[in-house]
Amino acid sequence: MKVAIVGGTGAFGRALATRLAEIGRDDVVVGSRDPERGRSTAEELGVAGGRNQEVVRDVDLVVLAVKSNATLETAAELADAIGKTPVLCVASDLRFTEAGVLPGRHQGSLAEEVARIVRGPVVSGFQSFAAANVVQGDPGDALICGEDSDAKTLALELAEHLGARGIDAGPLANSRALEGMTSVILNVNRRYKAHAGIRLTGLP
Ligand SMILES: NC(=O)c1ccc[n+]([C@@H]2O[C@H](COP(=O)([O-])OP(=O)(O)OC[C@H]3O[C@@H](n4cnc5c(N)ncnc54)[C@H](OP(=O)(O)O)[C@@H]3O)[C@@H](O)[C@H]2O)c1
Repeated sequence: MKVAIVGGTGAFGRALATRLAEIGRDDVVVGSRDPERGRSTAEELGVAGGRNQEVVRDVDLVVLAVKSNATLETAAELADAIGKTPVLCVASDLRFTEAGVLPGRHQGSLAEEVARIVRGPVVSGFQSFAAANVVQGDPGDALICGEDSDAKTLALELAEHLGARGIDAGPLANSRALEGMTSVILNVNRRYKAHAGIRLTGLP
């Protein structure tokens, strides 16, 4: 499976690429708005890299890992280049307040909005991963939601490569819960000075 990580120069994209390179996968390409930054990050991580618009072509899965508030704009900018390729949305809409981190919206999700922008299938997941845990190869469970079973299979497979237990969490509308859970985890991290992930119990 060839994977393009859009925004692969950031904390999360770097963590994904670092781990995938470490387990010997040579089919990862990291993207940036700046082709030189994409290439230098790739060189540093031992993968391929370049401009976002270029790296999303001819891959099996696009991971949209730009800064969350740039997710929709980036999806729109890359829609033509991505074409019908499946997209994994890892973003959460969050609100940082004095009282703590809160979900950024009362209804819907970023992933559902991305699905209205791009032409291929969209799945959502990895929101509960901490970059630090990804690098360690122990990110916890990966709850993946989406309608398209082939796209979901790719995301579940990627989760397993990263050392996670991939779990099918139903249709894309459930991304509302996955994205909302991120604020819960971030408050927990602040309170306990941790990098928490999630693990479901009771599964076979
Ligand atoms: N950090 C984590 O532990 C973690 C865990 C789970 C999920 N996530 C999700 O992963 C995504 C990336 O998180 P992150 O912490 O890696 O974010 P980040 O480091 O702040 O940003 C990632 C990349 O986004 C690109 N970017 C920044 N502003 C942009 C803009 N206006 N338009 C287009 N691209 C822009 C930048 O790449 P270039 O400047 O090179 O283009 C940057 O390196 C977010 O959606 C986040 O919610 C993060």
